[in-house]
Formats: sequence, structure tokens, C-alpha cells
Amino acid sequence: MTDRIRFLLDGTIHEIGPVDPTKTALELLRYDLGRTGSKEGCAEGDCGACTVVVGELVADRIVWRPINACILFVPMLDGRALLTVESLGTPQAPHPIQQAMVDRHGSQCGFCTPGIVMSLYARSIMGAGDAPLNDALAGNLCRCTGYGPILAAARDVPPQPRDDAETIAALRALRRDAPLDLSFDDPLAGAARRWIAPRTVDQLARCLMDHPEAQIVAGATDVGLWVTKAHRVLPVVVHVGDVAELGQIDDGDAEVRIGAGARYADAQAVLARLHPSLDELVRRIGGVQVRNVGTIGGNIANGSPVGDMPPVLIALGARLVLRRGDARRELPLQDYFLDYGKQDRRPSEFIEAVIVPRPPPGRIVHVSKLSKRFDSDISALCGAFAVDVDGGIVTGARIAFGGMAGIPRRAPACEAALVGSAWTRETMERAARALPDDFQPLSDVRGSAAYRLRAAGALLTRMWLQATGGQGAHDLMAMEAIDG
Ligand SMILES: Cc1cc2nc3c(=O)[nH]c(=O)nc-3n(C[C@H](O)[C@H](O)[C@H](O)COP(=O)(O)OP(=O)(O)OC[C@H]3O[C@@H](n4cnc5c(N)ncnc54)[C@H](O)[C@@H]3O)c2cc1C
Ligand code: FES
Ligand code: FES
Repeated sequence: MTDRIRFLLDGTIHEIGPVDPTKTALELLRYDLGRTGSKEGCAEGDCGACTVVVGELVADRIVWRPINACILFVPMLDGRALLTVESLGTPQAPHPIQQAMVDRHGSQCGFCTPGIVMSLYARSIMGAGDAPLNDALAGNLCRCTGYGPILAAARDVPPQPRDDAETIAALRALRRDAPLDLSFDDPLAGAARRWIAPRTVDQLARCLMDHPEAQIVAGATDVGLWVTKAHRVLPVVVHVGDVAELGQIDDGDAEVRIGAGARYADAQAVLARLHPSLDELVRRIGGVQVRNVGTIGGNIANGSPVGDMPPVLIALGARLVLRRGDARRELPLQDYFLDYGKQDRRPSEFIEAVIVPRPPPGRIVHVSKLSKRFDSDISALCGAFAVDVDGGIVTGARIAFGGMAGIPRRAPACEAALVGSAWTRETMERAARALPDDFQPLSDVRGSAAYRLRAAGALLTRMWLQATGGQGAHDLMAMEAIDG
């Protein structure tokens, strides 16, 4: 057991402790280290004002990612390298990105500016690939300037690869083979709190057997908000983010095995190869900062009725691998969700992986997310469809929705209305009329019950229109404007 963690800040080893395990990296920076450049706008991962860049060793190189410090717990920095806006330049000698923001008038009140600079810095050192600039900045909100000047500044900045040789050597020296077992005497709770971060999946399994009461944390993009917004105290945390095996993805011919700890950013390309519509779906989950830490396993395990991955994974016939100690069991994903807030997971059990069968050639796969904002918004409704058609007749249908019930689930009446019927628009409309037999959705801030039912039916027709040549799909999207 220890009360210290170690990480690199601007290349220098920082040893911190004793430290509250659920203190955020933003609190550490602003209140303990005096680095007030990173701002707190929302404290829930939405605005990007707190964006920092975190580097970690992946094989022999370092991967730098923009991350929201406001929902990043301090022990998640252990063994990693941290860069903040103060790492880049000074008022007298600004970094080229900072200078470009000045030259292009990309800053007014300045509150969002450090976060935007850090997002652009990460992009400039990692290479942008094919990702559009808008995607790189979708997790950074500016309420003053308007995005034109910011985008102009971003376009002025050429790629600037770093020489990371020294950082890589320093990070190697910080590597741990044994679990990080951090203890903190909490004066408010009057008890010790713990953060345990196993390194291997076997260590994780043993650790959860020893601590069935522990709160599992992966990327903390959900759990972080329990602390910053709901002020929950987590006595024992088991962090799965340092278990390399849990992040592995096997892109097989017949099926894809995605480790529960795989982050969206790492899984996106493989999911896109399963079907291109998954690429678009993942691109709309949070901003880059959220996708850099948020995991597929976390999205499933949290059991949210509006999580974006479960509907499409259910439609594709995915199975979960659950592990408790040395015992593993496989479960169809659709059976994991029992009721609102209730999943088929036993004490000490964790999700090890999700296995997704590759759709056979010819299967129609389609997923549509409807949200009030295109980027970085939670779904009002998410529909996923996997349909087989043979000789003009629907021979199989797996249809799943999020946002229509207390859990993500299939639509059996709608599926029954499709299977055996002609592959026509009339069949889609008849199947849509069966949806009220499957779902009695809620009205909430994201959409009314009537909107949800109507839009779910419209998504069926959108799927049909796109599969049969796309005619009229745009008219349909216009029709789907959220009616509140
Ligand atoms: C700004 C913002 C935008 C977001 N946008 C979207 C969005 O568009 N669509 C969407 O679906 N979600 C969205 N989310 C929610 C969140 O990012 C996802 O649900 C994410 O996948 C959670 O993963 P995580 O690794 O961060 O989970 P964590 O927060 O670490 O954990 C979430 C839950 O899963 C459990 N858990 C994690 N891993 C395991 C495991 N291996 N075994 C068992 N239990 C486990 C934890 O105990 C916890 O109960 C957003 C969040 C934020 C902050
Ligand atoms: S303060 Fe808004 S994302 Fe962190
Ligand atoms: S400059 Fe004020 S929020 Fe962006």
C-alpha cells in the first residue's frame, strides 16, 4: 500500500500524496499546483475548458490525448505524462497555436481558450489523420467568439511532432508491475479510502473477489460526475484503466472481440469495419476528450437507457463475457439489461469483453442517433437495425432501441411485423404501427413520448430508404425535427 502517485509534469517527475483518490486532476492543478490556466466551466466533461494533454506509453511510443481534467481522478495520472496550457508558452513567448489564436482574434473572454489551445496542440503533435477539424474541437465550447476565428487559427497551425525520447525513458522508469494500491485517510469520512489499480486481468479478478463492495472505474466519464455533481464518496475504487489486456481488440474474420476497457478512440476503426454507420455513431459520442477515456465496457455496464453502444450491439447479436474470480460466463447482451438500473452482474463480477459477430454479406445494418445537438449530446433516441432480405421478403430482423424504455431493448412486435413480409415501404409503416406494443416511452427533456414513438417509426423508414437507394432520406431527416 502507498499514499503516493507519480507522474510527469512538463517532463519532471511529480510525486503527490497523500491524495484523495477522487480529487480531480483539475482540482490538483488549480488548487495545489497553482496552474490556473485550465478552467472549470461545467465540471462534467461537456465544455472542454479544462482540457489537458495526457501521454501514455503504448508499446514503444507515447500517445498524447486531450482529456477533460475536470472528471479525471488524480490517480489516473499515475505513470503518465501531463501537459497543461502552462507547458506550451508564456505571454512573452507564446506557442505558435497561442499566437495564431491572438492573430486570428480567436479569444474574447478567454475562458475557453486554454482548452481550445490544448485540443489543437494534441492534434498538432499527434497528426490529424483524416479527422475533420470540427471533430477535434467538438468537445470545446466557446460562447463568445464564434467558431470562425478559432477554426482560422487552427488552420494556421502546421503539424508539430514532438521529440519524445526523454519522456519515453522517464515513463518507462515510472512503470509499475504490481497494482497501485493507494490509501487515503479521509478526515471527513473518518475512515481510510482506497484506490486499487491492477495491472493484469487476473489481478483484477482477484482484487474484485477481495473487494466485492468496490466501485469499478474505467474512464470515469460517468463515475466522475457522480463525484463532481452528486458529491458521492467512493470508499473503495478498483480502476481497470491500467489493465492492458482489458483494452485489447481482436478483429477476427467471424467476430470481433472488444475488451471492456477499450476506449472509443481505440475501438472506433474496428467498429467502423463492422459497419460504417458505427463510425458515425462513435464520432457523436461526447467530444474527443470523452472518447479518449470513455470505454465500451463502461457504456454497457452503466445500464443507461440512452447509452449509444447497446442498441447497435444488441442488433448485431453481441455477447458479453463476464468474469468472476476464475469463472467466466457468456451472456447475450440483450439479456444483461434486466430493468431500469438493474443488470445481470453479480458481486465481484466484471465485464471482460464484448464479442460482436461480423454481419454476413448482404445483411442490412443501420443505426440512427437522434439528439438535440449533432455533436457531443446524449441521445433522445437511438435505433439500430439488422435486417436480412431474400427474394424481396424479409427473412430476419433484429431491431433495438435506446431511449424508448428503462433499458435498451429489442422490439419484438415490430420485428414480427417485418419477418415474412415484403420488403416495401408499406411493410415499414405497418411495422412502425406495432411499436406502441413494444414500448411506452417516457416524456422528458430530450423528447416527448409521442415524438419518440413517431421518430422510432420514421427511423424504420429511413433504414428502408437508405437500403433501397436513399431516395427521400433527406426529406425524412427534415421531418424528424424534435418536437419536444
Ligand atoms: C460530456 C459527456 C458526453 C457523453 N456523451 C455520451 C454519448 O453521446 N453517448 C453515450 O452513450 N454516452 C455518453 N456519455 C457517457 C459516457 O461517456 C459513456 O457511458 C462511457 O462509455 C462510460 O465509460 P467509462 O469508461 O467512462 O465508464 P465509467 O464512468 O468509468 O464507469 C461507468 C459504469 O460502468 C461500470 N464499469 C466500467 N467498466 C466496467 C467493467 N469492465 N465491468 C463492470 N463494470 C464496469 C462502472 O462501475 C460504472 O458503474 C457522455 C459522458 C460525458 C461526460
Ligand atoms: S470543465 Fe467543462 S469539460 Fe471540464
Ligand atoms: S472566448 Fe469566451 S468562451 Fe470562448
